[in-house]
Amino acid sequence: MTKYFSEQKNFFGNTNPKALIEKYGSPLYVYNETILRKSCVDVAHLINYEKFNADYSIKANSNLHLLKIAHEEGLHADAMSPGEIYVLLNAGFKPEEILYVCNNVSEDEMKYAVEKGVCTSIDSISQLKQFGRVNPGGKVAVRFNPGVGAGHHEKVVTAGKKTKFGVNLDLVKEIKDIANEYKLKIVGINQHIGSLFMEADPYIQGVKSILSVAEQFEELEFVDFGGGLGIPYHKQENQSRLDIKELGKKLTEIVHEWMSRYGRNIRVRIEPGRYVVAESSILLGTVHAIKKNYGIKYIGTDLGFNVLARPVMYDSHHDIEVYRSGEIVDGEREPVTVVGNICESGDIIARERLLPLIKEKDILGVMDAGAYGYSMSSNYNNRLRPAEVLIRQDGSDMLIRRRDTFEDIVRNFEV
Ligand code: LLP
Repeated sequence: MTKYFSEQKNFFGNTNPKALIEKYGSPLYVYNETILRKSCVDVAHLINYEKFNADYSIKANSNLHLLKIAHEEGLHADAMSPGEIYVLLNAGFKPEEILYVCNNVSEDEMKYAVEKGVCTSIDSISQLKQFGRVNPGGKVAVRFNPGVGAGHHEKVVTAGKKTKFGVNLDLVKEIKDIANEYKLKIVGINQHIGSLFMEADPYIQGVKSILSVAEQFEELEFVDFGGGLGIPYHKQENQSRLDIKELGKKLTEIVHEWMSRYGRNIRVRIEPGRYVVAESSILLGTVHAIKKNYGIKYIGTDLGFNVLARPVMYDSHHDIEVYRSGEIVDGEREPVTVVGNICESGDIIARERLLPLIKEKDILGVMDAGAYGYSMSSNYNNRLRPAEVLIRQDGSDMLIRRRDTFEDIVRNFEV
């Protein structure tokens, strides 16, 4: 079988990279609906328990069309900002299907969630007091920090001794005292230990630890285990997948056992972002220049870190495919460094990567670009953010976000 992901999955449906770039411009985020729906189904049914639901963490990708698909597949959502709540309500999510997992926010932001009927999870004593002032007598959730974290890079480890997130486990009594003072009802306990685990163990440990905290609260309506489920970014090297069935099985046992101990069946939530969308997108870009500087061969493209920030921000690896005249290029390989068009020497997508011999005008496909791709893109260097296109289940292509225009980059200036 071919090692190329796009071929295995018939990713581009009835069209091909060249035709897509001609139609929609370069660079271009291309999404595949079939792949997206499949990963939604994986997480929506992860735990076999009646009151389970997966909240899609939309910071990974908040394209309205993709959100509607996730919602159709039964996903609820977590939001990190009023903007995310706004987009979710627009996409048709009901307020009770959204959890606002915020961090260091203003009173106004909390008020926005309260007015919209969205439950908030707060993550410090001072924010709990603020919530009490904003919404005395209301319901609220608390995000704890179980003291251990996990993640693919220190910047995305969101629990443990060195992060700003969550309330320390030894502050349960203070949390309860503040809740009493403001007549708040603590209805949810939440955690998120970090992003991208490929083995179930750290997550299971985190779950056990958060459940032991949850036991100390009597009025809970839900407990939320967080996200972080990983996807294999090294598919061309046959990296194994996270065993989602095994993870689901272990969690199912833990959940049923815990509910009988707690004495009531409360809702169980998880918050996956990456797992839902990452593999559903290939980012296309065009090779505009090839050169050798002091022994290093550079492939110069329009895929700057304004388009995909992950390689520069976390040294993240994304597999790359090469296309010419709509076909995959294979055969003889050489080490090249693939760079973008941004005015910084750190603007590198792939360093010393063994790729098939590349020519100018070839199209590169950057795999697994659906999570934290478009959502972290910017107009740096006054570049236009790319369009987004969906390959539907019938193989046809559909524009789901237009490319920025020059008008977009000047529209907020006062004249
Ligand atoms: N819940 C909370 C509270 C989070 O902070 C996050 C991610 C998630 C859920 C979803 O995590 P996921 O399932 O996607 O791993 N930009 C980085 C990832 C940052 C993740 C931040 N928080 C990257 O590109 O790898």
